[in-house]
Amino acid sequence: MSRPLLPSVTYEAAPNIALVKYWGVRDPTLALPYNSSLSVTLDRLRSRTTVRFDAALGEDRVSLNGVPATGGPREGVVRFLDRVRALAGRSERADVRSANNFPTASGLASSASGFAALAGAASLAAGLALSDRDLSRLARFGSGSACRSVFGGFVEWRAGRRPDGRDCFARSIYGPDHWPELVDLVLLVRDAPVKQVRSAEAMQATVRTSAYFPVRQREVPGRLRRMRAAIGARRADRLFPLVMEECDSFRQACETTRPTLDYLTSASRAILAEVRDANQRAGRPIAAYTHDAGAHVHVFTLRRHLVRLRSQLAEIDGVERTLVVRPGPGGRTLATAQKAQT
Ligand code: PMV
Repeated sequence: MSRPLLPSVTYEAAPNIALVKYWGVRDPTLALPYNSSLSVTLDRLRSRTTVRFDAALGEDRVSLNGVPATGGPREGVVRFLDRVRALAGRSERADVRSANNFPTASGLASSASGFAALAGAASLAAGLALSDRDLSRLARFGSGSACRSVFGGFVEWRAGRRPDGRDCFARSIYGPDHWPELVDLVLLVRDAPVKQVRSAEAMQATVRTSAYFPVRQREVPGRLRRMRAAIGARRADRLFPLVMEECDSFRQACETTRPTLDYLTSASRAILAEVRDANQRAGRPIAAYTHDAGAHVHVFTLRRHLVRLRSQLAEIDGVERTLVVRPGPGGRTLATAQKAQT
């Protein structure tokens, strides 16, 4: 008896930028983080992924931006598909096509949007109908930060306390329209180094070798609580200092890792300095910088400061391009082509 052909499912998801960083895994088997994190899902930028399981395929076929994936990126996708197959009780190999509407190597968190889109498309294509919460539980196995890209707006990934990880999941705390004044000015810097070590490995080096890591772990929960309150009250004067404090703490954790982790270029550092100066000149926090494990910098500000700030920061030597983004929607299914039963 032949099995019915499985549907082809397309799902899209956006990158997110962390205001409170995920940096450290407490349980690698269950992909559980040490601390809760908080992010903003971005509009305009998207990963779109189509998955179809097919009994006729001898192995998984993976294409990223139109090019067959090889090595580490392919292995990451295949491992993730194995997890979906195990969950769904299936053995068919899959055809996966994924594309970003932004440069993949640009360091704009394509692993978060990519694995959130893969989780959405692969789970549905395998016949699983997961809630968004369960989708976030699945997505973190591809890339931790991917669990936050399932949701739109302001998203908290709760680390949870249970050893079985049931209380570890992401959820939207405020929707994309919560704070229309808030904008994220993304500054893409020239010659951003290509990541040598995957974040998942780099953060474990921090856990093992940084004397500052335990200090950071004590600070983060309070900072996250205060940030959540500042976002709830739309208080930029409270939020912006916390965003920079957290970014500085993340950078200190990286710099005290042995061997040290340095993701910034001189242009990135000049951006941080200019934001500090702009706040000093204004006499209050009008902007906040943050960066992930890469050289590009996100500068949060309010709409009324954007034009001026953008022209000041765009002038910095080594800033290649600026991009204005806002909080955007979560992941969504685009199309499910139901195949006829054979
Ligand atoms: O999700 P990963 O394994 O790519 O790690 C993400 C690490 C940071 O981007 C630096 C922080 C975060 O919370 O997104």
